[in-house]
Order: sequence, then structure tokens, then C-alpha cells
Amino acid sequence: MIEYLMGLPGDLGQTEYSKTTLQQISNPGYDMLLLAGDLSYADTDQDEWETFGRLIEPFASQRPWMVTTGDHDVEKITIFHRRSFTAYNTRWLMPFRESESNSNQYYSFNIAGVHIIMLGSYTNFGSKSNQYKWLQRDLKNVNRKNTPWLVVMFHAPWYNSNTDHQGESESVGMKASMEDLLYQARVDIVFSAHIHAYERFTRVYKEKSNKCGPLYITVGDAGNNNGYNPYFMDPPPRISYVRDRSYGHGTLEVANATHARWRWIKNDKNDPRVVDSVWITTLRYRKCL
Ligand SMILES: [Fe+2]
Repeated sequence: MIEYLMGLPGDLGQTEYSKTTLQQISNPGYDMLLLAGDLSYADTDQDEWETFGRLIEPFASQRPWMVTTGDHDVEKITIFHRRSFTAYNTRWLMPFRESESNSNQYYSFNIAGVHIIMLGSYTNFGSKSNQYKWLQRDLKNVNRKNTPWLVVMFHAPWYNSNTDHQGESESVGMKASMEDLLYQARVDIVFSAHIHAYERFTRVYKEKSNKCGPLYITVGDAGNNNGYNPYFMDPPPRISYVRDRSYGHGTLEVANATHARWRWIKNDKNDPRVVDSVWITTLRYRKCL
């Protein structure tokens, strides 16, 4: 297993803050980028997909970008057609067939000892849905001897103590449907975005701290186009460990089969600073009931 560094932005957009984040993730030490949805903020203006493509091309040509969908990527125009994600699917073809998925909205891949699952918050996720059944199959096939790390990414966070985006069906409903699957599979980390602020929870299962649950991290403030979400619940829930009102991105440094380091890098005022850093051990070797 090799040391591997992933950059993790969410809600990128094409603002001045987006450009700052892009400069920071152009660091040649980064091996791959995982983008947790809300890419261009085109919102059906197709020219915006083009300007976004031109903005990111110098960076996306340097390393793999693996992405999933956010609410700004849906673009469902019911008057004209019933399909969603037309522009996204055309421009961002992910390896879903290779992971035996039937949709570009959910897929998985292995890299450097990590099995990474990308899910769609805006694609059917109920227990009878194709996405749910595919997730069941994919988790069942994970071999933790080959990939000791198990990471899941989707856009709308299941755990969130920001006052914004509370109670949304894509968060509440997806969590109700799929939380047991991720917990039983001993997922190590769940990354989300959508909230334009940073938040790191402890390991959680069903609202409570649980040493066998996933670590939940929200990284939705790479740039976007709506400003950041400055207000958090006060006092914070006991399961929320770190919160920060700023733009930035995270990095996951997979050191070996047992240890990885998560860092959050704030880019406020063009001044990149690590404001959260924690070493994580994989659940593969932990005794969980
Ligand atoms: Fe979003």
C-alpha cells in the first residue's frame, strides 16, 4: 500500500473563492480530487458549464477528478424533458459500468487501499430503489484485506448542526434509508458538502457517538456562488467536534493500511491555514459488536 493524498472540495462553483481553492488544490503533491457535488452552479445555463470547464481544465488535466452530484447539478426541466443530470452526465462520465452500477449517479472504485463509494443524494435512495440495491451489493463485495479503508461520499449531509439546510428530505430520507447499511459495513468516513461551512463530527450512529460508526465530515465551501452559511446551532451537539465558517478544502492522506490523516485547510482572504487536523484509524481492525 502506498501513501496517497486526496484533495476534497465541495460546492466548487466559479467565484473568486473557487479560484483560490483551485490554486491550492493544484499542489503537485495531490494525487486525486474527490468533489462532493455542486460543480458549476450552471443551474440550466449551459454557457456556465462551458466557463466552468475552461476554469478547471488546467487543474483537472493534472490528476483524476472523481465527482458526484449536488442539487445544482440536477437541472430537471419538466416542461421540456423529464430527465435529470443531462448536462452533468454528458460532461462528467464516471466509471459506473465498471462498478456494475446502472447509473452515472452512483459508482465505486478502489485506489491505494481505499474503496470509495460515490452516491447520489438526488437519485432514488429508498430500500426498493436501484441505488439502494446496488449499494447493498457493492458493500457486500468490499474486501477489507485489499482495501482496508472504506469511504463514502454524497452531497447532502446526514449530520449537520448548521442552521441552514435542516430537515431536507434528501438528507433525512437518505439517512433513514441507508444509515444502517453504512454502519453494518463499518464505513470509516462519510464525506458530504451542500452546507457552505466546515464541520467534523465524531464517529456516529443514529445521532449518538459510536466507536463503530463512520466519521462524518462536511466540506461544502470550496467557492460556490451563494456565500457561506455562517450560523451554527448553539450550543453544538455533543457529536459535533469542529466547525468553521469559511471557504476551504480538505485533504485525506492515506498513510498506510491502518492510519490516515484528515486536514481542513481554510482559504479565507487567500491565507491557506490548516485549522483542523486529526489522525484516523480504520475500523477494519477494530472489534465492533
Ligand atoms: Fe448543494
